Amino acid sequence: MNAGAAALQTLDLAPGRGPFLSDVLDGLSHPQKRLAAKYFYDTRGSEIFEEITELEEYYPTRTEIGILEARATSIAALAGPGVVLIEPGAGATRKVRILLDALEAPAAFMPADISGEHLVAAAGQLALDYPHIPIIPVIADYTRGFDLPLPAGAETAKRVVFFPGSTIGNFDRSEAAVFLRRMADLVGSGGGVIVGADLKKDPAVLVAAYDDAKGVTAAFNKNLLVRMNAELAADFDLDAFRHRAIWNEAKGRIEMHLESLRAQDVTIDGRRFAFDVGETIHTENSHKFTIAEFQAMAKTSGLSPRAAWTDPRERFSVHYLEAI
Ligand SMILES: C[S@@+](CC[C@H](N)C(=O)[O-])C[C@H]1O[C@@H](n2cnc3c(N)ncnc32)[C@H](O)[C@@H]1O
Repeated sequence: MNAGAAALQTLDLAPGRGPFLSDVLDGLSHPQKRLAAKYFYDTRGSEIFEEITELEEYYPTRTEIGILEARATSIAALAGPGVVLIEPGAGATRKVRILLDALEAPAAFMPADISGEHLVAAAGQLALDYPHIPIIPVIADYTRGFDLPLPAGAETAKRVVFFPGSTIGNFDRSEAAVFLRRMADLVGSGGGVIVGADLKKDPAVLVAAYDDAKGVTAAFNKNLLVRMNAELAADFDLDAFRHRAIWNEAKGRIEMHLESLRAQDVTIDGRRFAFDVGETIHTENSHKFTIAEFQAMAKTSGLSPRAAWTDPRERFSVHYLEAI
């Protein structure tokens, strides 16, 4: 931990081990075995995700950064001065620097993430680089809803949520609408919600982005097995599963799976789960949108689209939405 991190007031609303175990036991009991994507992100998972963002095939990060850099002035104008900026799923807090540089006198920045150690380290570095902005990291699971006590003096400031990284795509459509509604409630009428959403495109480009040649995404996916072995007394044989990325045309999403390479039993916390050869654990969805689809969903969640920007190749979109 660096000096900045040590000095930071962190709000720890972490859910603990209990929900991980019960979600795994439940998820592996369904005919299509499944696990929630949020469980990718322990400290090692967050590190591997950062490696993914540097991959040649993984266009979303550099494309979104390009849009944010090109549109920072417009975003800052829509947000206005003195806002409290809140970033659920903040990760390495790399993209928010573009906004912090452009916004007029932000009142505070509150990055929230389930991956606590990674968040605190990233926020600590940010606090060193932006000493004039109060930075308050919040360790929390945003699918459970969380109350954010705003810093003293900023209780009445306008709130703006920043949700980049195409993380919105990890939700099913109905869950995404619920999440956006929650963000609208969090910022209140007139508050802003900035969302990065990946766009529909050639499935070959999408599949390559989630199944890179170096196998980094495969390691990210398999880290879930590593985590269950370490934290839930599971006995997954890592060599007996392989990473799969599949484009699901009907649902407009990339799916990641872990496929069993042989018939086998796995024990987790004393419970046995049988796998047939070829059977999979569905570990992630990454939904893709058109601009119109995304804006229609935002409207059903009490958010009025104010602007949408894309890159010249129309691969990714950044939306500014205002709570009604
Ligand atoms: C796809 S990454 C995006 C990271 C970063 N915002 C970006 O744009 O590069 C998703 C981030 O959300 C966090 N995350 C995923 N599910 C979460 C949850 N339920 N609650 C809080 N954070 C979550 C992960 O730890 C990770 O940092």
